[in-house]
Amino acid sequence: MSESSLNPVNLGEKISLVQVAVEAKPTILVIDDSPTNLEVICGTLMNAGYEVLVEMDGESGIQQAKDNHPDLILLDIMMPKIDGFETCSRLQSDADTKDIPIIFMTALTDTLEKVRGLKLGAVDYITKPFHQDEVVARIELQLKIRRLHLELEQEKQNLEQRVRERTAELMMALEELQKTQLQLVQNEKIFSLGEVFAGVAHEVNNPIGLISTNIYHANQYTHDLIHLVKTYRQKFNQSDPEIQELIENIDLDHIMEDLPKLISSMKLGSDRIHGIMQSVRNFSRHDGNKKKAVDIHEGIETTLMILQYRLKAQTNRPPIQVIKDYGSLPLVTCYSGQINQVFLNIITNAIDAIDAVEEKFAHRELANSPQIKITTGLDRENVIIKIADNGKGIPAEIQDKIFQPFFTTKRDKLTGVGLSISQEIITKNHQGQIFHTCTEKWTEFTLLLPLKLD
Ligand SMILES: Nc1ncnc2c1ncn2[C@@H]1O[C@H](COP(=O)(O)OP(=O)(O)OP(=O)(O)O)[C@@H](O)[C@H]1O
Ligand SMILES: [Mg+2]
Repeated sequence: MSESSLNPVNLGEKISLVQVAVEAKPTILVIDDSPTNLEVICGTLMNAGYEVLVEMDGESGIQQAKDNHPDLILLDIMMPKIDGFETCSRLQSDADTKDIPIIFMTALTDTLEKVRGLKLGAVDYITKPFHQDEVVARIELQLKIRRLHLELEQEKQNLEQRVRERTAELMMALEELQKTQLQLVQNEKIFSLGEVFAGVAHEVNNPIGLISTNIYHANQYTHDLIHLVKTYRQKFNQSDPEIQELIENIDLDHIMEDLPKLISSMKLGSDRIHGIMQSVRNFSRHDGNKKKAVDIHEGIETTLMILQYRLKAQTNRPPIQVIKDYGSLPLVTCYSGQINQVFLNIITNAIDAIDAVEEKFAHRELANSPQIKITTGLDRENVIIKIADNGKGIPAEIQDKIFQPFFTTKRDKLTGVGLSISQEIITKNHQGQIFHTCTEKWTEFTLLLPLKLD
């Protein structure tokens, strides 16, 4: 505060008075056009230890309030240009100044004015001529209310911040929960599939073992018997007519030629069943924490075999043609049960997408018959597996959602976890990549599996 600014002689100019104080004191803005009033009120306020800003008309008062944010405004009603009421309502409607408490200064008798001022949002009024103690007491009360209000506001903000933080924590916990749930669904899926396969494999193994062993003996016996018949024919070539007729009737020569072939094809068949049961058991093997070097193509083939019942012709569509373009791949060290789960998820989706356009198949050209294309290859660091289908495609508006847990467009029957599980398996468990691309005809999912896994 400069000495001169207190001098009423200088009050015609725009002035601001600053109380020099060791501690920051509350700042009061006084808006009044009467130098006499200003002198009295400023003196009172400064004696009470406040910092004082002074403006002599409404417009400058509003500007001062916006620039310096005083703690309280003392506002005269009768002023030239804009009066106190107008000034008050403009301060109240401006976000910058609306929280500053306003006390009207009015003549003792102006009851209507007091009411109008309070209605406009003023917090109190003081009457002229001023009683110093009353002015200070009212101001202090309002400043206290304002301080409490600010503290409350601060508390509210702290609380809101805490609520936000807590909400974020809860959201994270929810996400975590969803992931766990996802993991459970995944385990459940793999487990139930594994259970079924293991059960079937167990049931089939014994009879198939029996057949394999017996085919071996049957083969031996057949050779022996054929040898015997041949020797017999050489030694006793003048057989009797009845035997001769029988030989012709049963076409003995053909039997002797065909029987060994028949038995070896039976052996081939039983070996094949044995192989299938083996790979089916391997398919959903619980890998635990151990990675194994596996043949990726074998996993794909087994998946196709398991899904054969869905690939073949249905009442409303021809069979799905699976076009394979396999590169030569090394064994890949991975959790093979999980990788097979990914193949199963993606190929199942491809079949679903093809079935979803089934009604159009009747009108399709042969070239557009339902197809799934599986391509494998290598780059320097990864095994690349691409699985594409010419099914219904993925609409643009859901492209960025398909990997989200529980997102599905097949609400009636499915859970919407296939792709999110696959993503988890490929990216988290194998540090690989999974993504999709869509062209007009093909929806393609690409898997990159690093050759060198940690
Ligand atoms: N090949 C595809 N063609 C068209 N849409 C696809 C294809 N693959 C996935 N989608 C879309 O992505 C969604 C999510 O697939 P995701 O495999 O995660 O779940 P889902 O197949 O609906 O159910 P779940 O796999 O749990 O049985 C599907 O509902 C489907 O809309
Ligand atoms: Mg799926």
